[in-house]
Amino acid sequence: MERLQKIMAHAGVASRRKSEELIRAGRVRVNGKVVTEMGMKVDPDQDLVEVDGKPITGREEPKVYLLLYKPRGYVTTAKDPQGRPTVLDLVHVPQRVYPVGRLDYDTEGLLILTNDGDLTYRLTHPKHEVDKVYHALVAGHPPEDKLQQLRTGIMLEDGPTAPAKVRRLKKIQGNTLLEIIIHEGRNRQVRRMCEAIGHPVLHLKRVAIGDLTLGNLKPKQYVKVSRVRIEKATANNYNHRLRRL
Ligand code: URA
Repeated sequence: MERLQKIMAHAGVASRRKSEELIRAGRVRVNGKVVTEMGMKVDPDQDLVEVDGKPITGREEPKVYLLLYKPRGYVTTAKDPQGRPTVLDLVHVPQRVYPVGRLDYDTEGLLILTNDGDLTYRLTHPKHEVDKVYHALVAGHPPEDKLQQLRTGIMLEDGPTAPAKVRRLKKIQGNTLLEIIIHEGRNRQVRRMCEAIGHPVLHLKRVAIGDLTLGNLKPKQYVKVSRVRIEKATANNYNHRLRRL
């Protein structure tokens, strides 16, 4: 017997956290009955689990791990109410994969897609603190004291940000390209941080997640990688952080 959300994640329905959302939303039935409470124990061989009326099999499908160069103009959700293109339109694998975390519609850069719910859970858990590296072209030339505010943490609507690593990369026609490294994954975080110091983002690109980089990928291209590669590339960075404490 296993917890319902774990079985759903193993079957590749969605990440464990997303599966919890599906359960809460009343979209999951076990043996014909809608289940909304968390943590129900289910036997994948005996019980019929359905999501939106479609049965899921208890059998695990092969895990797949993709690194995608998300272009601008794509949403990171499976479906968009406004009918905009989604990152899932760009990948062609037999498994149903989903994105690990999010990038805004207007943001480009590195995105991991997988059907491995456990890995997604670990990578998106705040405790794991994987560094995400962004190149942000911001309006104007922010002075040092403003950058320092980003480094120490800045108050946003939903609370203060954790310390960020920030450096200037270059000046481009009256604007500044910054490298900003954060490990939180709050909604539109980099944009809101830069807005808060009075230098809004004009263009945003995620260039790395831990030690995983865009490499030679062009927008819309993706590569398959192994779980081990993702684990190593994101664990190093975690160990590195611990060592510095
Ligand atoms: N921060 C943002 O503001 N947008 C993203 O897409 C990612 C991080």
